[in-house]
Amino acid sequence: MNTRIVLAKRPVGWVDESCFAIEECPEPIVGAQDVLVEAIYLSTDPYLRGRMDAGTSYAPGFAIGEPVVSRVVGRVVASKHERFKAGDFVWGFLDWSLRSVARRGEGLHKIDASLGRISHFISALGMPGLTAWVGAVEIGKPLPGDTVYISSAAGTVGQLAAQFAKRCGARVVGSAGSDEKVAFVRERCGLDAAFNYRTVAIDDALREHCPKGIDVYFDNVGGGSLEAALRHANIGARFPVCGMISAYNEVDDPGIKGLQALLWKRITMTGFIIYDHVHKLAAYQTRVAPWLRSGELRFHEDIVRGIENAPAAFVGMMKGEAVGKRLVQVSDE
Ligand SMILES: NC(=O)c1ccc[n+]([C@@H]2O[C@H](COP(=O)([O-])OP(=O)(O)OC[C@H]3O[C@@H](n4cnc5c(N)ncnc54)[C@H](OP(=O)(O)O)[C@@H]3O)[C@@H](O)[C@H]2O)c1
Repeated sequence: MNTRIVLAKRPVGWVDESCFAIEECPEPIVGAQDVLVEAIYLSTDPYLRGRMDAGTSYAPGFAIGEPVVSRVVGRVVASKHERFKAGDFVWGFLDWSLRSVARRGEGLHKIDASLGRISHFISALGMPGLTAWVGAVEIGKPLPGDTVYISSAAGTVGQLAAQFAKRCGARVVGSAGSDEKVAFVRERCGLDAAFNYRTVAIDDALREHCPKGIDVYFDNVGGGSLEAALRHANIGARFPVCGMISAYNEVDDPGIKGLQALLWKRITMTGFIIYDHVHKLAAYQTRVAPWLRSGELRFHEDIVRGIENAPAAFVGMMKGEAVGKRLVQVSDE
């Protein structure tokens, strides 16, 4: 028998573990051109919260009783597809299931394990890493001496965006939700300053740590962080809008105050979705893999073991309990 995690009910407001169910189910049937994959790492991502709602955001919603799907790293156990063979490491959008089938191999990508850790293909060397690059470097365009402020700086995207901005010569300031995370981004990721937004007023912290104002705000959070960044932005500032996690569990959109600053300060606010940049992934991996191997780019993973713990791991990630990228390991490498 196989084991999988399905959506049991839609959350109203904050997601909790009762929204998921763990089920025993038959082994998947491998048809012509199909690839059977044994999962190793499941990715927990904030945007999955939107997929638990009815309707579509930029990704279709999950159906009740159907498996949760996210990026998964796994090993091919059987293949009827010419591009894959048993033993290959792969990543793709697959079910939260011990074994699942990629029909006709669609959306499945071979992992070149010589480039880096296999788990990094759904984190630092994968789409989250590319997200950090596109937002921090291509949209933020930080110049040497600029001040860059990054919210959720200890998260998957945040820790990378912060280090990419540092490589451009910027002064980088981050916010995160615990003193442990603040120490992590200061000591391990090399940020110039960081603060715990749960224990200090964001305005006071930005006044102290960004005395020359903000030239780039990398927004992972929206809400009060975005409002404060608007107040402290310089003329001509760039705001790559990557995510607004503070609103994902709200029943009503709380809105953003102070948008007139966009006009007065000629701020460019650019929302982006990484699916529009997929064609840049191979070049990104080639550029960044040596930095990860040499240790000049730091990346922290927070690994929870056992498929039965995936719902709690996801809910905990949304609440801020993970430092770095939270993955669920469901079998050995
Ligand atoms: N545009 C795209 O294509 C794209 C792609 C990937 C991710 N994203 C977005 O980028 C953001 C970061 O994603 P990620 O995968 O790197 O997640 P992550 O930062 O690793 O994890 C989410 C973190 O958000 C923080 N958080 C939760 N609620 C918050 C609140 N109310 N205020 C401030 N911080 C809060 C928590 O950290 P604290 O302890 O610091 O609160 C939590 O650890 C998300 O908004 C996500 O939706 C966008």
